[in-house]
Amino acid sequence: MRMLSLFIVAASAVLGSASPTTPRQGSSFVGYLVSTFSDPNPRVQWHLSEGNSATNFRFLNGGNAVLASTVGTRAVRDIYLTTNSARSEYFLIATDLDINAPGFSWDWATRQGSRGIVVWKSNNLVDWSGSSLRIVEADTAGMVWAPSAVWDDDTAQYYVFWASRHYASWDTGHTGVASLDSIRYATTKDFTSFSEPRDYLALPDTPLIDQEFQYLGAPGAWARFLKNETTLQVYQETTRNGLFGSWTRVPGYVRNEAPLEGPASFADNVIPGLYHLWLDNYQQYVPFETSDIRSPSWRSSNSGGFPSGLKHGSVTPLTREEYDAVAAAFPA
Ligand SMILES: *[C@@H]1O[C@H](CO)[C@@H](O)[C@H](O)[C@H]1NC(C)=O
Repeated sequence: MRMLSLFIVAASAVLGSASPTTPRQGSSFVGYLVSTFSDPNPRVQWHLSEGNSATNFRFLNGGNAVLASTVGTRAVRDIYLTTNSARSEYFLIATDLDINAPGFSWDWATRQGSRGIVVWKSNNLVDWSGSSLRIVEADTAGMVWAPSAVWDDDTAQYYVFWASRHYASWDTGHTGVASLDSIRYATTKDFTSFSEPRDYLALPDTPLIDQEFQYLGAPGAWARFLKNETTLQVYQETTRNGLFGSWTRVPGYVRNEAPLEGPASFADNVIPGLYHLWLDNYQQYVPFETSDIRSPSWRSSNSGGFPSGLKHGSVTPLTREEYDAVAAAFPA
């Protein structure tokens, strides 16, 4: 009976469902893969955990990037790895943005930035397609930042989320005042074609970027982390009724420090109920953890051995087969 209900949970809809990238705690996952980038080298970089350690990692591929964008700005940031429940396909998605480009300014980047995300596809985590630039936003958008995705079993598609700000349709040069940054989404089966983009979360008084979801191990139970672009701090909300359900704010911010951004969240592979949250302090990730995700007091992780220089990315639990494949193909 127990086994049966677990299967039913895994197959329920996105409105309530498990994410495929969700660790089944105490499960068959044997380690974690960090997908990240660096400011001087804005390409996909991988770090692999030492077994199930959440703080000790080796920089794969001899410390070199594993994938470089040849499309759009030819630079990527905010790297996110996603997969389906069957783990039969993997997509790396990223912001198309080169902050080292001649004449770069953040004002320009939010008016004339890319309206696409950079996408790579693999069937085994080892052999990857070339990079593609997939336009997901309307031409009123000034940029598309920090994409993430959640697979939905019921509709066999991914929900893709990102942050954009929009200019009036008559302001085709994007020279005027824009809307506040909001979280947008579209659905896709293949990361080639996407539904029309829509608002997911747009607040009247707060610009928002850098959303990441965390499945909490029961149908409909999720946390989400968002950056308030006014305070430059990350806050948390939780729900019991799915991504499109009602959300409750955890009072205050994850940390009373600024700036922090780019949340990367993952459940511990070994200890049930333990969650990790990494926040980027504009230099590198700082790791935090809690054993009470619904009313957390996020504490610093014991970070001896934690790599320096990790930037806004994602952490993916790996099966034995996946772990051995990436370790063999991209040795440290
Ligand atoms: C973001 O910060 C501003 C400034 O403190 C505050 O007024 C606003 O309510 C905050 N929004 C959220 C969603 O935390």
